[in-house]
Amino acid sequence: MTNSEYEKMLEVFALTKNFIRQQIDLGFNEVYNPVKTKKPPVKKEERFINTSLEDFHQQIKNCKKCHLCKTRTNFVFGVGNPEAELLFIGEAPGRDEDLLGEPFVGAAGKLLDKMLAAIQLSREEVYIANILKCRPPENRDPAPDEIEMCQPYLLHQIELIQPKIICALGRISAQALLRTKSPLNQLRGKFHDFMGIKFLVTYHPAALLRYQTYKKFAWEDLQFLRKEYDKLTGS
Ligand code: URA
Repeated sequence: MTNSEYEKMLEVFALTKNFIRQQIDLGFNEVYNPVKTKKPPVKKEERFINTSLEDFHQQIKNCKKCHLCKTRTNFVFGVGNPEAELLFIGEAPGRDEDLLGEPFVGAAGKLLDKMLAAIQLSREEVYIANILKCRPPENRDPAPDEIEMCQPYLLHQIELIQPKIICALGRISAQALLRTKSPLNQLRGKFHDFMGIKFLVTYHPAALLRYQTYKKFAWEDLQFLRKEYDKLTGS
């Protein structure tokens, strides 16, 4: 067993102990147990010099760390306010995003714009990025090794932007960042902790286009998000 696996095991024991203690203390059958996430370890060679977001983009835009560089048209870094208080994180660029080099510009992006407008926000105010910077062929799910290789880029973006809230769009983004396999319906509806930042999970706009019935839950999430945003930013 490696050191990190051992540490993970200790973390699971500690969480389980907490869970049982809470159950006894509260006498509940179901207990709210927030997922606490420390910053995932980043290899020494992956630590970046503290630059501006745009310098960082220039530094990494020709990335060839994984095979997705062979099929991409554009490296999709992210878009929005470099000092945003709110960061949305999707999954990976699709065809439109790959062609234009910007996240969420296709059908799902149009819905994301409407979701933002519904809580009086715009693309220019927030920041939007993805777990992967390059499009997986045929829009397949990102592979674990691709997520692992790309994650240092996103983590450094988070360090540079320093958002007060992160909103994960969809299961892949939420599970990758929270390092969990819990289903989306168990992850949404509460704030998690991600590197000390409030972290909310909601449905991916593409899922909302396919399953309209989830829209009411997404609306609840958005209202919850706006309330916390107002609280944290004094809006
Ligand atoms: N879906 C995503 O997760 N990200 C995009 O940029 C576009 C679609």
